Amino acid sequence: MSKLAIIALDGPSGVGKSTTAKQVAQRLGWDYLDTGAMYRATALALQRAGVELSDWKALEQELASLRIDQRGSRTLLGEEDVSDLIRTPEITKLVTPVSANARVREVLVEQQQTIGRRGGWVVDGRDIGTVVFPSACCKIFLTASKESRARRRHLEQQTKRIGTAMTLEDVLADLQRRDHADSTRAASPLRQAEDAVALDSSDMTLEAVVAWVVQHHREHG
Ligand code: DC
Repeated sequence: MSKLAIIALDGPSGVGKSTTAKQVAQRLGWDYLDTGAMYRATALALQRAGVELSDWKALEQELASLRIDQRGSRTLLGEEDVSDLIRTPEITKLVTPVSANARVREVLVEQQQTIGRRGGWVVDGRDIGTVVFPSACCKIFLTASKESRARRRHLEQQTKRIGTAMTLEDVLADLQRRDHADSTRAASPLRQAEDAVALDSSDMTLEAVVAWVVQHHREHG
């Protein structure tokens, strides 16, 4: 299998994948694809249209008309910039069953494969190295202890004032809920690809993680 110029960055929620991926892309002059934002935008679209996942006909219709675009770090649903709307705790809850739906995954994975097929992308998600781009030249599975992920996510929410205020305990409980849901679902559960390299970033700064990924890509990509 010939390798594709894709850096696949998988791992659990709150591990810093998107910030890392953005900076790695900038360093290499590559593009960045946030697949989590695509699932979030889909959850928002289904919520707005009042579509239940169990109503397969309505779901199929909504998926057929779904237009999600990414420009830099902004996410567009049709013409509307929904970058902030998809980060609320409400969408964070709603996206769990949406991203576990096999039909939703089929449609979004196909879109992701079309976007990335020419290579030159840093892609973050849960199933990038296993399902979306199994031939990616560089696969990294980023981990960190749940306590350090919760601390970072809590700080980020306070700084950016995203949604209603959550305590550190709430953030930790939410991360545990998402870890469990993401890794136990039937459709493409979160798991490390056999040929991925794991990096535990619990005690690393963002700069160190970015430098590690860039170096790893230069040596092995
Ligand atoms: O990375 P994130 O928190 O923005 O992801 C949002 C949700 O989408 C999260 O519940 C995991 C899911 N997801 C997924 O199942 N597969 C991906 N490739 C990316 C995200």
